[in-house]
Amino acid sequence: MRKIIAGNWKMNGKLENLLEIKKISNEFALSEIEIVICPPFTLLSAASEIAKNIYLGAQNLHPESEGAFTGEISADMLVDLGITHSIIGHSERRTEHNETNELVARKVNISLNKKLQTIICIGETELQRKENRTLEIIEQQLLDSLASNITFEKLIVAYEPIWAIGTGLIPEASEISKIHNFIRVKLVELFGSNASNIPLLYGGSVNGSNAPEIFRVANVNGALVGGASLSFEKFAPIIRAIENTDP
Ligand code: PGA
Repeated sequence: MRKIIAGNWKMNGKLENLLEIKKISNEFALSEIEIVICPPFTLLSAASEIAKNIYLGAQNLHPESEGAFTGEISADMLVDLGITHSIIGHSERRTEHNETNELVARKVNISLNKKLQTIICIGETELQRKENRTLEIIEQQLLDSLASNITFEKLIVAYEPIWAIGTGLIPEASEISKIHNFIRVKLVELFGSNASNIPLLYGGSVNGSNAPEIFRVANVNGALVGGASLSFEKFAPIIRAIENTDP
């Protein structure tokens, strides 16, 4: 199974921060981990000049290929730049930009059609968790955000409990295990046995200290990292943690 560490810089990073990408690229030149950094759009072009042996991803894209969509970026434009990955349906986009499962499904479709490695984010709110609805919510998000006829070879699923994002809180390892197993079973139900190769990432307050325990959980094939991906000093220990985890 591939192991993936993806960093989501969100709306952070200026030209001077390209140095962090350079350091990661140099340090992990020989790593077998699929390392992905998703800086803001403004840095993608410059980052693509310096990122060697690591991949670059976009944090969002538009469901159409081109047209009169002011302020938007298409999958075609990203591919044109040599970008290989995308993050679709992050909870911040679902919440702040009213992205529905239906819109997420359209974005996933175009992203996969353009052969981008596509990280789709799913996860429950704090309230939904308290109401014991986590599995129900996740199943619904999977069903509604993924068309049954997609080519899933480039699909990556990130489980990101919304209450864990940027809060320093993370679920118990047993909880992550239960949910990742559930996602695995549902993906196989949806797409057949080959779907057992879809990498499953955990996201939400991952850091160098909690990463080793998270990566020991079965069916956790990597992480989607926000805050701790912004600097080499915080991101590198997470990559090392997965390098040191048995397959
Ligand atoms: P965090 O963000 O690591 O800062 O909690 C994770 C994410 O939003 O993907």
